[in-house]
Amino acid sequence: MWRFLAGFVLLVCAADASPIGGRTVPEFGKQYHVKGELSLPHSEIKEPFEAWYDFEGNQSRIDYRNGTVRTFLIGSDLEYGAIYKITPVLQIIKCFQLNGTKEDPIRPQAALPDLQGFEFEKMEYHAHVLCEVWKKVTQAGHKKNTYRLWVTRPEGNDSPATPQHFEMEGFNTLLESHNDKYTIDYSDFSPQTESDVFIPPLGMTCGEFPDPVEEHQILANPIQDYVSTSPVSHAHRLFGPFKEKFNRQYKSEKEHEERENYFIHSQRFVHSTNRAGLSFSVGINNFADWTKAEKARMRGVLPPRKKDDRN
Ligand SMILES: *[C@@H]1O[C@H](CO)[C@@H](O)[C@H](O)[C@H]1NC(C)=O
Ligand SMILES: *[C@@H]1O[C@H](CO)[C@@H](O)[C@H](O)[C@H]1NC(C)=O
Ligand SMILES: *[C@@H]1O[C@H](CO)[C@@H](O)[C@H](O)[C@H]1NC(C)=O
Repeated sequence: MWRFLAGFVLLVCAADASPIGGRTVPEFGKQYHVKGELSLPHSEIKEPFEAWYDFEGNQSRIDYRNGTVRTFLIGSDLEYGAIYKITPVLQIIKCFQLNGTKEDPIRPQAALPDLQGFEFEKMEYHAHVLCEVWKKVTQAGHKKNTYRLWVTRPEGNDSPATPQHFEMEGFNTLLESHNDKYTIDYSDFSPQTESDVFIPPLGMTCGEFPDPVEEHQILANPIQDYVSTSPVSHAHRLFGPFKEKFNRQYKSEKEHEERENYFIHSQRFVHSTNRAGLSFSVGINNFADWTKAEKARMRGVLPPRKKDDRN
């Protein structure tokens, strides 16, 4: 009797589960190569990259600026792994090295979000391709983030999926505004890599990453904050040290949320601009939590009238 009932319940669930519940979370395989373009709409930045990931080989690589800025994360180097970044500094090619430690070992960095915890939302066309849309919502304090990934899959649930588009949309429940957004457009995905792409150039002497220490993680692993769906990003964690360093006290919780938001946008802008390899290096400074209008006033320039004064 119980057996019969159990079977019956199972059947009902299966019928209920139609295509939506029947979908397995997409996987991209244990190694891949992919290109992408990161867009930060608040700063009008578009940043192309190319990435390789090899879980079993314990290594990954991400290139910016058509291969002139290369970052290798090698989990099996030294005792706890190492990161090597090859980048021009004032037109001289330099190498920076960060060694893993027992507490913070270096692991390869994926260029695609980890879809554990995502749920199937809908089918939708993206750039004329019919995609599955997978969604995850996180909440930390007043910050509610919605992540969506558009993927296609060859027939059969077991083949690796192909990423098409990724979007993060941040909503602040205290300010009641959509105050954060970035997207990544993926292309040229292939579930293979060649092992020689992971070998950093030989014979270079690698120095330590430049100060400040708190920013090493972003400098050494530039894509992590964008593909991670952890509710509090590394950029957010830097706001505490920033407030301390520049002795910030805000009038209200609302102002605190607004300033933090400007700070995050400055952070992303600064690091993206530095990766673009201008002949100078922009740093996070005392003005990182200022609005555009405040900065303009400071320089004695009247800001153009604008409805939306975001950074
Ligand atoms: C990128 O590099 C390739 C080959 O190294 C070259 O053909 C191409 O023109 C470069 N693109 C840009 C935008 O510099
Ligand atoms: C990667 O390397 C680290 C450190 O050498 C090791 O602990 C870990 O198990 C390795 N991972 C894989 C998948 O081989
Ligand atoms: C990393 O480890 C290598 C090899 O042990 C060492 O020569 C180098 O000085 C270390 N780099 C840093 C920044 O600690």
